[in-house]
Amino acid sequence: TRAPRCVVAVDGPSGSGKSTVSRRLARALDARYLDTGAMYRGVTWAVLRSGVALADAAAVAKVAEAARLESGTDPDAPTMTVDGVAVDAPIRGPEVTAAVSAVAAVPAVRRLLVARQRDLIAAAGRVVVEGRDIGTVVAPDAALKVYLTASPAERARRRSAEDAADEAATAADLARRDTADSTRAADPLQQAADAVVLDTTGLGIDEVVAELRALLAARGIR
Ligand code: DC
Repeated sequence: TRAPRCVVAVDGPSGSGKSTVSRRLARALDARYLDTGAMYRGVTWAVLRSGVALADAAAVAKVAEAARLESGTDPDAPTMTVDGVAVDAPIRGPEVTAAVSAVAAVPAVRRLLVARQRDLIAAAGRVVVEGRDIGTVVAPDAALKVYLTASPAERARRRSAEDAADEAATAADLARRDTADSTRAADPLQQAADAVVLDTTGLGIDEVVAELRALLAARGIR
């Protein structure tokens, strides 16, 4: 018997624990995992490679339209391929991280990626989707919408541990990206009115995943 279709939307700022929690939840539910941030990062990688100016929204949109993106949705080994190149390492690098908010703020880029994300979600059927606008824009009828948060200090601590980077510099970078992602005109980072807000400060991954599974079970999803 095939597992029933079900979309779980996981939104929140960077360092809130979204990626780890979403992958673990997808595994537990025997679902696919879609990392929409990786798609914005993949487009950003293509933009940087093309040499067009980040400030030239029309040129950025053209690069996005031409880029062939492939998202691997296995929660054990998610992958991102752009124009046939595996970009999993470079899309986590400092150049892409510094430029991605600007690219993600271009309305034409968002329209394009939101449409692709909806296609991927429809094809996957049972999927945990992580991003900034999943519950509000991409999948407003998700079975469960979660908004993960954590204190700025905890988020900086997690991110600098992941990137082996300086905590103060990471905190400054997170603050800059939070502001950019929350104040942009097109689909800003926002809590859906019907999202369950979970503050993960001081919580372990197991505790967060168990809490989400309990919320799903209460909705008849196992
Ligand atoms: O989650 P992340 O750090 O990989 O996301 C990278 C950037 O992409 C982040 O600065 C915000 C943007 N993003 C977005 O605007 N909408 C999404 N659904 C996912 C990410």
